[in-house]
Amino acid sequence: MNASSYQDHFERAALDPDAFWLEQAARIRWFQPPRQGHAEAASGGQAWFSDGELNTAWLALDAQVEAGRGEQAALIHDSPVTGVVQTLSYAELTERVARMAGALAGLGVGRGDRVVIYMPMVPEAVIGMLACARLGAIHSVVFGGFAPHELAVRIDDARPRVILSASCGIEVDRVIAYKPLLDAALERARHAPRAAVILQRPQARAELLAGRDHDWAALEAAAAPADPVPVRGSDPLYILYTSGTTGKPKGVVRDNGGHAVAMHYSMEVVYGMRPGEVFWAASDVGWVVGHSYIVYAPLIYGCTTLLYEGKPVRTPDAGAFWRVIDQHRVNAMFTAPTAFRAIRKEDPDGERMAGHDLSCLKRLFLAGERLDPPTYEWLKQRTGLPVLDHWWQTETGWAIACNPVGLESFPEKPGSATKPTPGFQVEILDPDGQPCRPGQQGAVCVRQPLPPGCLLGIWGDPERFRLGYLETYPGYYLSGDGGYMDEEGDVFVMGRMDDVINVAGHRLSTGEMEEIVAAHPAVAECAVFGVADELKGQLPLGLVVLKDGCGQTADEVCAELVARVRAQVGAVACFRRAVVVQRLPKTRSGKILRRALRDLADGQNVEVPSTIDDPAILAEIRTRLDRGSGGDA
Ligand code: COA
Ligand code: AMP
Repeated sequence: MNASSYQDHFERAALDPDAFWLEQAARIRWFQPPRQGHAEAASGGQAWFSDGELNTAWLALDAQVEAGRGEQAALIHDSPVTGVVQTLSYAELTERVARMAGALAGLGVGRGDRVVIYMPMVPEAVIGMLACARLGAIHSVVFGGFAPHELAVRIDDARPRVILSASCGIEVDRVIAYKPLLDAALERARHAPRAAVILQRPQARAELLAGRDHDWAALEAAAAPADPVPVRGSDPLYILYTSGTTGKPKGVVRDNGGHAVAMHYSMEVVYGMRPGEVFWAASDVGWVVGHSYIVYAPLIYGCTTLLYEGKPVRTPDAGAFWRVIDQHRVNAMFTAPTAFRAIRKEDPDGERMAGHDLSCLKRLFLAGERLDPPTYEWLKQRTGLPVLDHWWQTETGWAIACNPVGLESFPEKPGSATKPTPGFQVEILDPDGQPCRPGQQGAVCVRQPLPPGCLLGIWGDPERFRLGYLETYPGYYLSGDGGYMDEEGDVFVMGRMDDVINVAGHRLSTGEMEEIVAAHPAVAECAVFGVADELKGQLPLGLVVLKDGCGQTADEVCAELVARVRAQVGAVACFRRAVVVQRLPKTRSGKILRRALRDLADGQNVEVPSTIDDPAILAEIRTRLDRGSGGDA
């Protein structure tokens, strides 16, 4: 890259996006280089590089081998829960992906077909994703912590030809059998995939259903390697479902060409990496962080990526991250602040860092939720390293705001994600669509067009994309987050403005939980919202009004509600608290006052809205919450 400044990149990307991004596109390898920049896609998003042809898996693997990286480690699987550390070189990973692509082709998977992947953090999850990409098929990875109901909803929406899964995952010391969850999901789903391919793990073997289920190892071993299939730049690479404001998750569609260009650019500009270095995103392949920065970006850029099957604590202790950084000579690490809050809680003085040589580590990157200043300060003090917050979403696939260290480093401001990334013209708008003053909070928006790498649309639902993101402020993408910019143009993202919450860096919908709670026969009405939590950032809380004469005690109902949400969404929802109240505060027009409820539950001063129908309700709810009874589950 030329020695150019942030300002230069930002301005060029804003003034002539096509010229700027075609220049960046020329830095990756295509089968047919694009000449077109962006155009509006039928799905509502921007189609970038439609006339270009490439294959993302070839770019991430074969092209690296051709460039002389065959012997370099591509993927290190570090699994404290099984005691295994395994390294796959670029040559080995290429070979396994080509074979698995052959296996999938043998099951009838071809260009444009969908494949759902429901797997723990094992190399085969990455191999499965890249094998799909090699065939021009579209993968849809579902996070392993989701329950069968969630998996079934995604299966019905994506209509996969094949499902890839494993016999089990391991949560610290608990073996979680995945196959019964998969079977339950397939029973519920209306769509029936042709085949399921199951990785048998020694911790729990699964029973395979003759005619539908295949043993992964046998299938891969017997397959002939498949060649990469050229696809157009704007063809979909994957669908990743994320929580919206209702129970129906949104299938964010990502393209091949724009994504590859954005991934490559971001490794350099956002993360300041060099090919050959080791990058560790401590997340899960089921989230966007895993897609972008465990799998695609590090490989497309020629780095070594680390796949960590463990937790920040308890596997075995709060020194796990420092051990991994030292052992694998990690150069940059990325995780969610909640992970470091968990470490700080167990090891406040950082004693577990002792004995580890962390000199390899250049920078720490945090995202997924707001980096709260105390966690920032702790990390800064303990490591003395650049601690860089950056803000992004499943929809954008890479950072909307960051400290662009590959171009220049700006001073770190606790609580700020720093500057809009080149390509993202961030503006803060008030409810009338007017620009906010510096320091004034509003809706964080991005002026159209979005740069390469952002969503092409919502799978099968262009209208939802238009209504949810584009309609509120014409000409802008609505992020759903609220925040402000200061006098120096630094971005501060304060939290969601809708029914999405962030629990331990996991994005969840309170709207969906509310639908589940409301469906209980004893519940007359309810509100589920996020309350502040020291460790996980937010936790959902349900306030419930029971039907008169429902025949159940408050405690019974609350316990059932907790069990229902866990069964339908999954353990990851962390819905552990429901409280029965007499009434919910509403405006005179009947709208529940969620903001007041949240402030109340957070123990903050509640500004009693003038529109409230009966102010005494708030005092009653506070008493219930303080008592911690009245149906606390
Ligand atoms: N498969 C099955 N179950 C899973 C799971 C998976 N992949 N991931 C989480 N769960 C379960 C957990 O076991 C837990 O179950 P429990 O209620 O029976 O104890 C529940 O879901 C809640 O999980 P979580 O919120 O992750 O809590 P935790 O106590 O296990 O771990 C943290 C807390 C902070 C250590 C952990 O969430 C973490 O490391 N988060 C940061 C990293 C991250 O993944 N960020 C994502 C985006 S960057
Ligand atoms: P996800 O789509 O799961 O990546 O979640 C995206 C949401 O997480 C954003 O809309 C924000 O609400 C929140 N988020 C992610 N990164 C940050 C950050 N650095 N600061 C504040 N909020 C963040």
